[in-house]
Amino acid sequence: MKQAFDVVHAMRPGLLQLSSLPPLSLYVHLPWCIKKCPYCDFNSHEWQDGKQGGKQGLMPEDRYIDALLADLEASLPLVWGRPVHSVFIGGGTPSLFEPASIDRLISGIRARLPLEAEAEITLEANPGTFEKDRFKAFRAAGVTRLSIGVQSFNDAHLKALGRVHNSDQAMAAVEEAQAAFETFNLDVMYALPGQTLLDLTKDIETALSFKPPHISIYHRTIEPNTLFAKHPPVLPEEDDAYAMMDLITDITGAAGLQRYEVSAYAKSGHKCWHNMNYWQFGDYLGIGAGAHSKLSFAHRITRQVRYREPQLYMAQALKGEPATLYEEVKREDLPFEYMLNALRLKEGFTLTDFMARTGLAMTAIQKGLSAAEAKGLIVRDMAKVWPTERGFDFLSDLQELFLADR
Ligand SMILES: C[S@@+](CC[C@H](N)C(=O)[O-])C[C@H]1O[C@@H](n2cnc3c(N)ncnc32)[C@H](O)[C@@H]1O
Ligand code: SF4
Repeated sequence: MKQAFDVVHAMRPGLLQLSSLPPLSLYVHLPWCIKKCPYCDFNSHEWQDGKQGGKQGLMPEDRYIDALLADLEASLPLVWGRPVHSVFIGGGTPSLFEPASIDRLISGIRARLPLEAEAEITLEANPGTFEKDRFKAFRAAGVTRLSIGVQSFNDAHLKALGRVHNSDQAMAAVEEAQAAFETFNLDVMYALPGQTLLDLTKDIETALSFKPPHISIYHRTIEPNTLFAKHPPVLPEEDDAYAMMDLITDITGAAGLQRYEVSAYAKSGHKCWHNMNYWQFGDYLGIGAGAHSKLSFAHRITRQVRYREPQLYMAQALKGEPATLYEEVKREDLPFEYMLNALRLKEGFTLTDFMARTGLAMTAIQKGLSAAEAKGLIVRDMAKVWPTERGFDFLSDLQELFLADR
């Protein structure tokens, strides 16, 4: 249904009863990269090919920031008066933007939204995007947390992944982040083309030698519509990939990082607030090309999607019409949607939170919980439900138990 920004529609009576609205985060998408990686299905567009209207270095940064602020302005009625606890500037490669543009963006957000004083503001940065002193300038612009897309420290694997940076650049970027930020994250992928258990051990040990407060370690997937889907590389066997996961949990645990979500490991006090809010089924307003939003109202939960193509997005946002899709989440889909997020967390969820966030009664998940428990995929007490180790290993099977009967 195309029904952008109709706040009156969103507020009208409905079947759900949300006792209170969840915490709200802001996601900002910056859609350009130097080069498209062959495994990536994010909404990222090569800048240097000129198709986006110019050469690298001439990205329409000013126009894009104007568009983001116009988008935010048009979206305000949907989140009126709600405090914002975190901002995540993702991509794409946000570190391609000048620190002055990020400064203007963050100031523009602060001027329009009640951003909490201690709000976490993360920016995704790629190695090889002029890190010397740039990271410090991002810090000065108000970014509190940097997330660096290292992927690997092995030159052969970086090449196979089509990355524009090498291992030395990855290490230089991490050192810069260490110097400029109190908290930062490293993104690493495993089960890479040609990767052995020994290669992975070296990668994780190198990553941990920088003492990152947070590390995200993703099992490399082959996404449809990517170059890897068309020309699949030779990948490690499934058994090896399982062994890799066990190895990762052991090494990170020994280094004092707790696995708190399927792919996320953190030292105490360094969990990513923004991602926690997604996993706890909190609300988020997503601005920027292709960004998704999930916003709750007293009687419904809604989703929005922005125009995906950057030039079209800018034109639409500047007209005050950035969204291409607005829909209400169907009541029967809410249990599955909730579990897609909450069961990714080691600590699981509380029954009170389930009811508060979905507006549903416990009876809506009773059948799924009993089936999951019988299969040894969850444990529960009077107040909480959390996945077992087996539940983590077979997460999609576990989540599917909460699909609506159709
Ligand atoms: C939004 S992406 C990109 C961030 C940044 N542009 C970069 O590439 O370094 C965030 C993370 O998702 C992970 N990722 C992207 N595609 C993936 C895939 N096909 N399989 C597993 N992880 C993936 C990468 O670790 C990446 O750093
Ligand atoms: S740099 Fe990151 S966002 Fe850009 S194409 Fe590569 S993986 Fe995707």
